[in-house]
Amino acid sequence: MLNWDDYGKEENNTPAAVNVSESVKEVQKVDAPAKPVMDTAAPVPAAENKIIEEGSRAEIAREAVKNLDETAGIAELDQMMGSRVQVDDKMMINCNADLNQLVPFKYDWAWQKYLDGSANHWMPQEINMTNDIVLWKSEDGLTEDERTIVKRNLGFFSTADSLVANNLVLALYRLITNPECRQYILRQSLEEAIHTHAYQYCIESLGMDEGEIFNMYREVPCVARKASWGLKYTQEISNPEFKTGTVETDKQLLKNLIAFYCVLEGIFFYCGFTQILSMGRRNKMTGTSEQFQYILRDESMHVNFGIDVINQIKIENPHLWDEELKSEAAQMILEGTELEIQYARDTMPRGVLGMNAAMMEEYLKFIANRRLTQIGLEEEFKGVSNPFPWMSEIIDLRKEKNFFETRVTEYQVGGALNWE
Ligand SMILES: [Fe+2]
Ligand SMILES: [Fe+2]
Repeated sequence: MLNWDDYGKEENNTPAAVNVSESVKEVQKVDAPAKPVMDTAAPVPAAENKIIEEGSRAEIAREAVKNLDETAGIAELDQMMGSRVQVDDKMMINCNADLNQLVPFKYDWAWQKYLDGSANHWMPQEINMTNDIVLWKSEDGLTEDERTIVKRNLGFFSTADSLVANNLVLALYRLITNPECRQYILRQSLEEAIHTHAYQYCIESLGMDEGEIFNMYREVPCVARKASWGLKYTQEISNPEFKTGTVETDKQLLKNLIAFYCVLEGIFFYCGFTQILSMGRRNKMTGTSEQFQYILRDESMHVNFGIDVINQIKIENPHLWDEELKSEAAQMILEGTELEIQYARDTMPRGVLGMNAAMMEEYLKFIANRRLTQIGLEEEFKGVSNPFPWMSEIIDLRKEKNFFETRVTEYQVGGALNWE
């Protein structure tokens, strides 16, 4: 009888591991037909000789499974990660505990966010875009400034969520060494794919020039600057050779988290969200606005998760959070704020939708203060207040609470939006 505890132990009677490809070749020698598989006069390439006749596949598979050395993979895991996981073995980064064991949970907040995100599942096609299509195609339904806002934001967001998703799966995932956090990162990755789908769905529904919109992050300077600012942080840690475990590389990972959760998702999304939601509040582009509301609800949780991860890494590795990194982190948040202020000026050369660039600048400074304090840094902009309290009602009061401030107690069940 198999016993999982014995998996790492050497067994004298373990059959020698069989090289499956060798065994396949052996069987082929016996069973393979002498004539080429394809009826052709041309010489048969060597690779085609490996094709197994249909009748013998099941037999070969049975043979391979019979000779499978089940100790090989597990022994390697044991060597790398020890055996059964105790809760105290778990750590956010540089952890040696087995990452395939989800429980026992250490970071309940991460698991809870996975459950909450899953309870909020939605799809873009569920939202009716009919009124938006009629309005977008009508001659006088929207002003030129309003049309610019819709196009610029679809341009920025349609690629920004791909940048976030790529950072998650190609850079961050393997470096976060905790299974409950990885579970949330997988959930977040799916949500980012749904967001990109939502923007594509809007672009297609409105009959926009897809090439123009999807290339704005390369061709329109105020969009391109934000994208390239984020991209350099992905490039730093996405090299497969990159490893955490030194002060320098652990700090690089923390900077990536700050770049993506505090700046990209925590600041770069806010001008566009405010503009599109303001449009919806004025009964214009209501389908697009509803898509953005669902996305904003997801994004609030992404930001909270990232901030919890950053703060937990700081707790477990206090030596990383030195004066140098604090100063760099503040600088990154302020650079992001400046880029978003430029984006606000570019997308709102005049007052539009009851707002203007100066009001947005104050709002972004208010958000920047919040991001700074959420990771334990001093506010930068004294005396700023929130000119868009309706945005705060939507996100700040309940949805933006992270674990280190207070536990979120209200959760959505099912996909329906309910902001009240
Ligand atoms: Fe997103
Ligand atoms: Fe996100």
